[in-house]
Amino acid sequence: MKKLFFLNLILILSLNFCGKKEEEKTEEVTPVATLDAETQKGKELYDMNCATCHGSVGAGDGIAAASLNPKPRNYKAPASEWKNGNTEVAIIKTLNEGIKGSPMVAYKHLGDDGIKKIAKYVVHLTKN
Ligand code: HEC
Repeated sequence: MKKLFFLNLILILSLNFCGKKEEEKTEEVTPVATLDAETQKGKELYDMNCATCHGSVGAGDGIAAASLNPKPRNYKAPASEWKNGNTEVAIIKTLNEGIKGSPMVAYKHLGDDGIKKIAKYVVHLTKN
């Protein structure tokens, strides 16, 4: 009888242990942040139009960055290093007008709606 008791105890303990392991696993795959619909659309436009220069997460290290002067803005840089600024309004201005004398051209052709969504995503990248 005593033996059975210990066998049961071991069984219960090991089941518990396995259960805990499973929990840890699911925590690992939980996404860090989900984007709202507008910002997600902005990400799609960004990946198509901007990532070659600014990099996939906006660190200013896209594949074309090395050959550019001045270098594409690193969105993680402090606001003081930005020419127009890193707020949504300032980024919309940059996208409408471009930055004179630099490879950063205007993106007016993406339309007010597209520009607003990209600006939202760039603001997201400044913080993430
Ligand atoms: C051909 C490369 C290139 C592409 C493509 C490009 N950029 Fe830029 N971008 C630059 C460069 C270079 C600068 C830095 C300009 C400077 O400092 O004078 C810059 C600067 C910026 C800035 C900072 C402006 C500031 O206030 O200092 C923002 C915001 C920006 N880009 C957003 C975008 C977005 C959004 C897209 C896509 C729609 C995009 N860029 C596409 C090269 C590019």
